[in-house]
Amino acid sequence: MIKKISKSKKPIKAEKKSKGFKIDYSPSLEGTSIVTIKPRNELFIGGKFVAPKSNKYFDTVNPATGEKISELALANKDDVDSAVKAARHAYNGEWGKMSGKDRGRLLFRVARILQERAREFAVLETLDGGKPIKESRDVDVPLAAQHFFYHAGWADKLDYLAPNKKVSPVGVCGQIIPWNFPLLMAAWKLAPALACGNTVVLKPAETTSLTALLLADVFNEAGFPAGVVNIITGAGETGAALVNHPDVNKIAFTGSTDVGKLIAKSIAHSNKKLSLELGGKSANIIFADAAIDQAIEGVVNGIYFNQGHVCCAGSRLLVEESIVDEVVKKLQRRLDMIRVGNPLDKNTDLGAINSLEQLNKIKELVDLGKKEGGDFYQSSSPLPKKGYYFAPCMFSNVTSAHTLNRIEIFGPVLTIQTFRTPDEAITKANDSRYGLAAGIWSEKGSKNLKIAGALKAGVVWVNTYNKFDAASPFGGFAESGWGREGGRHGLFSYLKID
Ligand code: NAI
Ligand code: MG
Repeated sequence: MIKKISKSKKPIKAEKKSKGFKIDYSPSLEGTSIVTIKPRNELFIGGKFVAPKSNKYFDTVNPATGEKISELALANKDDVDSAVKAARHAYNGEWGKMSGKDRGRLLFRVARILQERAREFAVLETLDGGKPIKESRDVDVPLAAQHFFYHAGWADKLDYLAPNKKVSPVGVCGQIIPWNFPLLMAAWKLAPALACGNTVVLKPAETTSLTALLLADVFNEAGFPAGVVNIITGAGETGAALVNHPDVNKIAFTGSTDVGKLIAKSIAHSNKKLSLELGGKSANIIFADAAIDQAIEGVVNGIYFNQGHVCCAGSRLLVEESIVDEVVKKLQRRLDMIRVGNPLDKNTDLGAINSLEQLNKIKELVDLGKKEGGDFYQSSSPLPKKGYYFAPCMFSNVTSAHTLNRIEIFGPVLTIQTFRTPDEAITKANDSRYGLAAGIWSEKGSKNLKIAGALKAGVVWVNTYNKFDAASPFGGFAESGWGREGGRHGLFSYLKID
């Protein structure tokens, strides 16, 4: 039953909680013995694991339990400097002289080793970051390998990107990545940089550094010269030291819009190259002529995949007014079927929220949303007692001005609005400071093409959502970032073309 809708913007009187999920599954836990987690992790500089000059370490926890699983070295300015020096040394040395063909050969090896060690990476990713094992196993690790395969193929073909021009690497790249796709973001950044002949200092996010450090092992196993890839751990200060290091030629950042702006400001006076992949508030649009059940699955995948920790999550749903009751009802039913729980259980759809900080942010925003109004519905799926969990929820009957429709939540929270005409759908979809992605659900091909062209979004999916491919460029409009990553387009930000 759908709650009667009141058009006025006033705080909700009653929250709707579902009756819960009815079908029981036997737990099917993925084993963890394949992973060895060292109690303490050092920095990967110049091909070796070295203790930090800072002498400081910090904890990384398993968000599924809230318990500490390991310690990470905290890189300070001096450690960042050592890493940049190692990268410069490798750039001026063996790596700089290596042919594209040989670089490609090494990158192919990384891809193959990742495939061979896929289960180890998937389990570690889930333990450190809280995402369901079925996602790390079926999405993160295969896509990470795909990025290395794809870019390995480019390494000896870069001259074809700009015929009759000189194509050369930019030099030492500083790469800073977030916690939502730790291994995939590392692959996404490293593969093009290395294919283009650069060397790299990579800083993973402070809550999810373990798979990047395991990747260091893979680079050694593949036979990369020392210093081509350096991996340093730490939080914002470490990232800022990397951004501001004078001998870094390019910064690639994925993360929050606020930090992206800060980085852009702090290097504005330099000639460092910069690419930014920032936040999103992407619209998923369902027309009355769409295959509704298929669209419901796409919407669920678009917002609840990876606990909503997805920059291009379809967090704003726009539904044609004539079908909104049916869509909301079906979505509520589907919400109740989402299994929230232990990320290591192969049945789990929604795992743990990445950190306590992020969980608190989601709770605060949802409370604010309730105060602002709309009809709130949340799955009453039982949540584990320990760890950081949040049941998937949605706000229907909200206006474009509703705060939850405007800011990135990065959690399993969907907002639903209606529209009457395609033009209204376009206007509402484009009414955002972001422009990363969008989805269209309709069976009319010409309508899909027309609307896709009018949407201010870097990626538009039609009758599907959250599909990624290393050959396809990814990036956004407006506050969603600068530049494109992936595909042929993505190579240009790692090259000088004279
Ligand atoms: P964040 O932007 O602070 O973190 C991303 C990366 O940047 C991390 O590696 C972090 O250590 C580093 N960093 C932080 N401050 C820095 C600085 N001043 N200079 C250089 N590097 C710095 O994101 P945070 O705080 O973890 O998440 C806050 C919100 O940001 C989330 O709730 C979400 O809305 C958004 N976010 C968006 C992401 C995206 O992919 N678009 C990814 C992560 C967060
Ligand atoms: Mg962790």
